[in-house]
Amino acid sequence: MRVLALLDGTLADPESSLIRIDDLGLLRGDGVFETILVVDGKPRELTPHLDRLDRSAAMLDMPTPPRAAFERAVELVLGNWTGSSELALKLVYTRGVEGGDGTPTGFALGAAIAPKVLQQRADGLAAVTLDRGIEPGLAERAPWLLLGAKSLSYAVNMAALREAERRGASEVVFTTSGGSVLEGPTSTAILVRGRTLVTPPAALGILPGTTQAALFRAAERQGWTVRVEPIAVDDLYSADGLFLVSSVRKITRVHTLDGKQLPDSSALLSELQGLYESEY
Ligand SMILES: Cc1ncc(COP(=O)(O)O)c(C=O)c1O
Repeated sequence: MRVLALLDGTLADPESSLIRIDDLGLLRGDGVFETILVVDGKPRELTPHLDRLDRSAAMLDMPTPPRAAFERAVELVLGNWTGSSELALKLVYTRGVEGGDGTPTGFALGAAIAPKVLQQRADGLAAVTLDRGIEPGLAERAPWLLLGAKSLSYAVNMAALREAERRGASEVVFTTSGGSVLEGPTSTAILVRGRTLVTPPAALGILPGTTQAALFRAAERQGWTVRVEPIAVDDLYSADGLFLVSSVRKITRVHTLDGKQLPDSSALLSELQGLYESEY
């Protein structure tokens, strides 16, 4: 089940050919996107997602995404969704056609959540650490690298996931060459120590996560300590839990890292899920 809405306020057939072959989103991955979780017809963290779409577009020197048109497209998708109670809603905004007048291409696409994601939510997963070749300070020093933008250029992220599969795992924790934790290819890393949640700072060149922000908000309200600070890879083994979080996967437990079993964090997962759901 998929529902597609365009920025002109019309629905379109997701099976039909709609994107020109000279669209720069297709030719160069030149554009930005968001993936939003919708539960029972309600998009979660819609404003933070739209704000991040704006920030990503600004980092790529693209025109500001037309918010009212995206909001209308979102409503159109949700109003026409007849599938399961949860869906993944993708917003895409590309630089438009090569040599054209600069009008971006944009759409909202609702789709069912992949069974693999649902399974990982329930069972947890094995991850490997992979060097991302990013050093502290690089994001600020080299803004053209677009670190921290949610651009359509995710080929590296997908390659990392294939490398994880080759190593017998299904997810990745990217690190700096110096052994500092960054993020997953499509997720934020969160470590738990006692009643403290820790995530690495966005200044390292990672995407500020809307799920992490929602979880930290809820946790703080319920008396947890939340910290945004560098995490050394070695700290992951001694922590009470390591979790990968993102809009569609919600909170996923990492049970094995680089082939080593981590402490059982199933009870912690239930607690974090409770915190996160209390936001909605
Ligand atoms: C690189 C990266 N980091 C983190 C996240 C998590 O972001 P959010 O919680 O807003 O979905 C994503 C989401 O897909 C991502 O692609």
